Amino acid sequence: MGERLLIEEKFIKNLSKDRSPTGKMDKQEIIKKTELFVKETLEKDSTGHDWWHTHRVRNLAKRIAKEEGADIFIVELAALLHDIGDYKFFQGDEEAGSALVRKWLHSLKISPSLINNIVEITSQVSFMHTLTNKSKDSVKKNSVPTLSQELMAVTDADRLDAMGAIGIARAFTYGGFFNRPIYDPIIKPNKSITKEEYKTTEAPSINHFYEKLLKLKDMMYTDLGRKIAKKRHRFLKLYLKEFFKEWKGKM
Ligand SMILES: [Fe+2]
Repeated sequence: MGERLLIEEKFIKNLSKDRSPTGKMDKQEIIKKTELFVKETLEKDSTGHDWWHTHRVRNLAKRIAKEEGADIFIVELAALLHDIGDYKFFQGDEEAGSALVRKWLHSLKISPSLINNIVEITSQVSFMHTLTNKSKDSVKKNSVPTLSQELMAVTDADRLDAMGAIGIARAFTYGGFFNRPIYDPIIKPNKSITKEEYKTTEAPSINHFYEKLLKLKDMMYTDLGRKIAKKRHRFLKLYLKEFFKEWKGKM
């Protein structure tokens, strides 16, 4: 957490040195500066939320945004920043991460409404926000009409990166980082996991498939998201089938 703040300070200082006399930056420059800031911040991450995750989310979010007619600049900027302030890296503090994103955007001297737009997306994208604290109906129903197209594009892209072959790799990387076992038949998955339980769980990585990954297919907001999710969901299921076959010592 402290390291992220230090990197941000350094980049904000450099911004003021490089700034043109008018102080204004064009969209391309804003994206480039943000990319460099995010790259350095996430460079050493080994939880599966590294720069390459952000890179994939950015590309996929832009592809979805084109299909949906969403604002590509907002989507790209929000996708780049979506994991910078993730609560998981701020000891669960949901506000500290948003403050870091807001500070960066403010230093770019962009309009307050655009800053609010981006922070709205980066603070809502996490799967954790879809959970409630009630074990019955723990996953909130999607409320598509109230969400912006830009939020939907970034969220679908982020969720898609938690599915399929890459999603599997990331699940075990994350579990390993937090010392979670691969699998323990004694510890059953908590399919109705609540928001608080999700934030503090130490369950095996395989449980994460049932507590989050297999739910994502039905949580997509966009048509393209749904199409890609269908394929990646099938791969998750196939992987689990093989995993349990091998666990039982079958061929
Ligand atoms: Fe992410």
